[in-house]
Amino acid sequence: MINQNQITQWNIELQQASPEEIIAFFLDYFKDSIAFSTSLGLEDQVITHMISQIDRKANIFTLDTGRLFPETYDLIDRTSKKYGLKIKVYFPDPEDVEKMVEEKGINLFYDNIENRKLCCHIRKIKPLMRAIGSLDAWITGLRRDQSVTRLNIQAVEWDTNNSLLKINPLINWTEQDVWNYIKENKVPVNPLHKKGYASIGCQPCTRAIQPGEDIRAGRWWWENPETKECGLHKR
Ligand code: ADX
Ligand code: SF4
Repeated sequence: MINQNQITQWNIELQQASPEEIIAFFLDYFKDSIAFSTSLGLEDQVITHMISQIDRKANIFTLDTGRLFPETYDLIDRTSKKYGLKIKVYFPDPEDVEKMVEEKGINLFYDNIENRKLCCHIRKIKPLMRAIGSLDAWITGLRRDQSVTRLNIQAVEWDTNNSLLKINPLINWTEQDVWNYIKENKVPVNPLHKKGYASIGCQPCTRAIQPGEDIRAGRWWWENPETKECGLHKR
């Protein structure tokens, strides 16, 4: 049984560990009851590369909201072929989506924050709950310096939203660390990054940023920074 003492101890023991060591440790510890959740973003591509060198059979999944960029779909395909691993794709419940669109419209998220959260709930959070429902732990690509909402995350933490352990191997990496790793290891990335898309989510809710803008400025750009979480990590 995982309790807070165990989590604190892991965080202390793994303080000097590399992301690869953290990933290898938890894949081995939890075996089939851990999965990596990838959005195919830069950090997630780094983790996929690391996992491919540790265990190609590890559980990896992505949430296809139905509103992703075509480039993201291509990257799912290219990544699984390059590394010879399976990326399981979870879709939203079609009845939920149909009802939401019928009642609120196809682009409801621009109207108000409640609609935006409803769309994220139906297209991302409910599928996430299915994906991790029977697991003991999940791995994410969160970094502390991505956002004001992520300053306090730990490498190992209890995910109170979803009641399982959450492993964040890249918390201390900077954006530059991520790019260095990608270049050194020839990790495939979304071509949109070169066009100014720093952080990539759903197509209608992501835009390119200008030089000097915050890396998440292009996500839900019409909302203020404190609310800019889809609910996968903060609700
Ligand atoms: S979000 O909450 O704003 O959408 P972000 O794009 O920064 O999240 O990604 C943070 C982490 O959440 C990723 O590293 C990944 O582990 C997980 N994640 C985000 N979007 C998805 C997705 N569509 N499918 C699977 N995992 C995702
Ligand atoms: Fe819907 Fe936008 Fe959330 Fe994607 S990011 S699920 S399109 S509100």
